[in-house]
Amino acid sequence: MSLIFRPLFEKESSTYTYLLADTNTKEAVIIDAVDETQQRDIGLIEELGLELKYIIETHVHADHITSSCPLKKKFSNAQIVLGKNSSVDCADVLIEDGDILNFGEFTLKAMSTPGHTDGCMSYVVDDKVFTGDALLIRSCGRCDFQGGSAETLYNSIQRLFTLPEETYVYPAHDYGGRTVSTIWEEKAFNEMIGGGVNKAEFVRRVEAMELSLPTKIHVAVPANQVCGSKIVAD
Ligand SMILES: [Fe+2]
Repeated sequence: MSLIFRPLFEKESSTYTYLLADTNTKEAVIIDAVDETQQRDIGLIEELGLELKYIIETHVHADHITSSCPLKKKFSNAQIVLGKNSSVDCADVLIEDGDILNFGEFTLKAMSTPGHTDGCMSYVVDDKVFTGDALLIRSCGRCDFQGGSAETLYNSIQRLFTLPEETYVYPAHDYGGRTVSTIWEEKAFNEMIGGGVNKAEFVRRVEAMELSLPTKIHVAVPANQVCGSKIVAD
């Protein structure tokens, strides 16, 4: 067996979507799929002959609309997965810390990593961790809406830092064209929390972030609370 792993990018919101599958069984999962790129993603899944088993979100996004529901309409055996604390009822699976999802011979293990939002989850597959907006490359998610808390995010990132240092870090976004990091690199060089920054200093840095609200927040959050069901693929 080997792993099919395809990072995909949506440029308007700088979002990474990740497609993973077992080469033998063709069972597949997709993480953080975006409405704008749903036809590309459907095309790739069909081209590779994959059987989509899980449509997984790291969290309820504020900056883009998910393609969860359109993908489920297309691949009717797939189940939508969201963190239990996401306060949504459109998911088929409300996942909790330590839960495991299987695709072929591979396992995807859920880690609860709240703080950016209260329902944020990270997912570990082999030597990779998909961190959503909890841990970004050299940065971290904002904590000023959707139940965010810098103190909580600090604890979540410290948990991520207990993963093996060679673990590859794949975030939900990068705004500078970077695609991957490692736990070691982020422990050393992350500009918010790297180099042994303590909780008080981390909170101060998060509070000092000067960010405008995502332009789509008033559309994206309500749409994502119903898994993007208003937007359906042909
Ligand atoms: Fe987010």
